[in-house]
Amino acid sequence: MKSSNTGLSVTGATVRFAGRAAVDNVSLSVERGGSIGIVGESGSGKTTLARAIVGQQELDAGDVTFDGVRLVGRRSVEQRRAIQMVYQDPYSSLNPRLTVRQTLRELLRVHRLVSRDGLDARCAELMGMVRFSAEALDAYPAQFSGGQRQRIALARALAVEPQVLVADEPTSALDASVQASVVDLLSELRRDLGLTLVFVSHDLGVINALCDTIVVMRSGQVVETAARAEFFAHPREQYSRELLAAVPRLSARDAPGEAGSGPGLAMVPAASIDSPKSAAGTPVAPANQDQPQRAISEE
Ligand SMILES: Nc1ncnc2c1ncn2[C@@H]1O[C@H](COP(=O)(O)OP(=O)(O)OP(=O)(O)O)[C@@H](O)[C@H]1O
Ligand SMILES: [Mg+2]
Repeated sequence: MKSSNTGLSVTGATVRFAGRAAVDNVSLSVERGGSIGIVGESGSGKTTLARAIVGQQELDAGDVTFDGVRLVGRRSVEQRRAIQMVYQDPYSSLNPRLTVRQTLRELLRVHRLVSRDGLDARCAELMGMVRFSAEALDAYPAQFSGGQRQRIALARALAVEPQVLVADEPTSALDASVQASVVDLLSELRRDLGLTLVFVSHDLGVINALCDTIVVMRSGQVVETAARAEFFAHPREQYSRELLAAVPRLSARDAPGEAGSGPGLAMVPAASIDSPKSAAGTPVAPANQDQPQRAISEE
């Protein structure tokens, strides 16, 4: 596998649990600003690989390289900042006892990313990036709906100004329409911030919407690596064909989609999603005016 000097490369990565390889000699690369989707059945090693990429899981063999630098052993603060993880369960990265503002301020302060005077402005800016108004800063994680909370987790990841986002099934627990709004947001952020995206999902529709390259894993190994259009039009491997056949809306008739618009996803207007106000028929607020579901004062 070609390894470039800019971007992320995984070479011969192997992780064993009790002697069994959960990730078995995996190589992949994604250039800066690119996006790669990792698909495969449950237990195929996707999460273990994602954790290895962000440095939460040690490799038994192989390397993770970012911008030509091997990331071995304990990563420096800068190296950890550069590659951030977004989890399926947003609570994994949010402290339920802290308001969003407290969480973001703490991160910005610890990493000395803005001056003391600039903290609140930067918090508000981060909220705008994930389509919330600054008022949402004073809510607690439990006050948001699932999709909103995932956007808060995203703001948290973005606070440290990462170059790479590794997202492990970030939309799998969400309803289809909410899922589409999060996918839409990720796609926009990727473009606006020049983020590199590693996206793990069972959902080939979401992968099609977000990823330029698709890596299919099975039993810890890479079965197929292909460009999006090629993968959806002519999957090379029998196993890839089986995965595609299992998704009715991705039959040959629908696929491949245009870049950035997955089948079934592009039909849902982002602004109408995850916003109780617009659902109730009041004038549709700009997408960034979204509020947490329950106000703090309602306790
Ligand atoms: N900490 C661990 N200790 C022991 N075995 C583990 C550990 N983490 C994962 N495994 C095993 O490694 C294999 C790969 O697991 P992994 O969670 O990476 O799969 P996955 O592709 O993410 O699955 P899913 O789609 O269900 O999330 C599985 O057999 C799993 O049981
Ligand atoms: Mg997993």
